[in-house]
Amino acid sequence: MSRRRHLVELRKAPAAVLPSLLLCDFGNLEREIRQLEAAGVRALHLDVMDGQFVPNLTYGMPIVEACRRLTDLPLDVHLMIKQPQQYIQQFYDAGADIITIHAEAVESPGDALAQIRDRDCGAGLAINPNTSVESIEDCLSLCDLVLVMSVEAGFGGQSFQPVALEKLRVLKQLVDDKTLLEVDGGVNGKTIRDCQAAGAQLLVVGSAIFREPDYRDAVNQLTNLTLTV
Ligand code: DX5
Ligand code: ZN
Repeated sequence: MSRRRHLVELRKAPAAVLPSLLLCDFGNLEREIRQLEAAGVRALHLDVMDGQFVPNLTYGMPIVEACRRLTDLPLDVHLMIKQPQQYIQQFYDAGADIITIHAEAVESPGDALAQIRDRDCGAGLAINPNTSVESIEDCLSLCDLVLVMSVEAGFGGQSFQPVALEKLRVLKQLVDDKTLLEVDGGVNGKTIRDCQAAGAQLLVVGSAIFREPDYRDAVNQLTNLTLTV
């Protein structure tokens, strides 16, 4: 199946809770992924950090590739790295279905987005809390997904920054209905409904799933909240 086909499937759901694997048990990756599949998640969100664009360092292609071997779920790869253009082919080869780069990490996001799209891959553009929507307005037509960070990129477990809600509302007016809006950082039982109401369709969740004893319960509870917006 074409990888961009996953975008069509994701667009169909009014809201989807995507687990960020940052806090999962990488010693038991297969078990973790099976639990998430059993919980009914629609994609996995993978946070790649290079210790330069953000102070934290996580993982790269090998983990993306391991996830690819373990599951057919779409892989939503969030690159928090400098010069992401240099690694697009490698993340594509590792099995990414959506590759999201940070606007702050490149001179010209349009070129990088076009490179991603050339490869039958969903192209995403992320903005940190201090980056304005206006600064990426020219590139929106090249985005399959816009990721609004509701924390400063770099670490899980931070508090939600409400500035993201205003940006989501503005973006909702600016993009067509083919563009997915995603929010990431501090999304939990208290904030998820506001995110969805503001226009986010993909809701990335780390601690509010992985710090809970039962992933299925956590995903169900969060998903149920989105159904009542
Ligand atoms: C932060 C990452 C997030 C993070 C989410 O830079 O992009 O995906 O892991 O974790 P929580 O939900 O704990 O904020
Ligand atoms: Zn992320």
